[in-house]
Amino acid sequence: MQHDIADAGLAGRGADRTEWAAQKMPVLRSVAERFERERPLEGMVIGGCLHVTTETANLMITLKAGGARPSLCASNPLSTQDDVAAHLTVDHDIPVFAVRGEDNERYYSHIRSVLDLKPSITLDDGADLVSTIHTERRELIPNLLGSMEETTTGVIRLRAMEKDGALEVPVIAVNDANTKHMFDNRYGTGQSTIDGILRATNTLVAGSVFVIAGYGWCGRGLAFRARGMGASVVITEVDPLRALEAVMDGFRVAKMDEVASVGDIFVTVTGDINVLVGRHFEMMKDGAVVANSGHFDVEIDKEALKELAREVKKPRESVETYVLAGGKRVNLLGEGRLVNLSAAEGHPAAVMDMSFANQALCCEYLAGRSEGDKLDTRVHSVPEQIDAGVAALKLASMGVAIDELTPEQREYLASWEMGT
Ligand code: ADE
Repeated sequence: MQHDIADAGLAGRGADRTEWAAQKMPVLRSVAERFERERPLEGMVIGGCLHVTTETANLMITLKAGGARPSLCASNPLSTQDDVAAHLTVDHDIPVFAVRGEDNERYYSHIRSVLDLKPSITLDDGADLVSTIHTERRELIPNLLGSMEETTTGVIRLRAMEKDGALEVPVIAVNDANTKHMFDNRYGTGQSTIDGILRATNTLVAGSVFVIAGYGWCGRGLAFRARGMGASVVITEVDPLRALEAVMDGFRVAKMDEVASVGDIFVTVTGDINVLVGRHFEMMKDGAVVANSGHFDVEIDKEALKELAREVKKPRESVETYVLAGGKRVNLLGEGRLVNLSAAEGHPAAVMDMSFANQALCCEYLAGRSEGDKLDTRVHSVPEQIDAGVAALKLASMGVAIDELTPEQREYLASWEMGT
């Protein structure tokens, strides 16, 4: 079996940690148990380009339980957990092509290795598989039942392809399921971003000025958690509605140019390019911490930071200290890549449970369609019954019961004649 991993000897540790995560993934477990009985993915070749974490390992194991032949490469060069890559390869015969810290060339060679296996379903976190299929592996297009997209940035990229008439495969925007973005993006990114910053720096959040660029689901989650830890949170935004929401949520909203000189910790979560640039670094206080939790490492202008620096030190794991002329220090975390995955372990299993149950159920949805009933070529939503089903299973796993509509209430909601 082809694979490229750092060290097969790490498999035992990967097995223990994957099992640890599984304890907090009851929805995915229930899907896996049903898959084992029903084998809805029998023989399906599924290629994943996802963060190689303990949670992703549980997704891969679930797909295999359903009869699929999954393979995996990384969706970020710094997020791979090498012990997990070893565990999947050694203990589950799942080909993994991922090595933490791989350079760009090896990263793309791993994407090609997954595509060499000729998947008929792909799972993306950032659209790298789909975009490589369109540019280099067009022969795979006719056989592709569809691709799932895990993240906001990927969905934006795919919708842009659709708008330009460039999209040639059906895509399901898993990110847009309510049981994905309302939980994974908000609570997952919110908590794991702080986790990454703390593991990297051991800084005190209480009393700090915590500047967050972007008030989408991730930014909101982060803002509430930083405030809960005693930070003074400032939001920067370009969207008036989101900025207004941040104001109404009780946060200070300002321009980055205004707050660059007062922030202690800066986090970008916009999905856009060059949000923190040279002039901002020049304005920052000595010792400012700068991190990114958006999908790509484009939000912080690292080149400008390098140009401004007279020296770069590496005082701790995941921290680069750029010493600017005059001696001021700006601390960049995780090379400006997703700080929650480069400096910590990503979202906790309990939220990935819902995200990956959606992924597994969407694979079943694609695999179960007949030849004449293939999804058309556009970006699709996750079917409502999958999204609602995941919410119901999660609630049940938490032991939370909810009320049901009475027939009278159902009739009232369906009627328009009844007024005051
Ligand atoms: N994205 C964010 N956190 C993740 C995790 N723990 N596993 C896989 N993908 C992730």
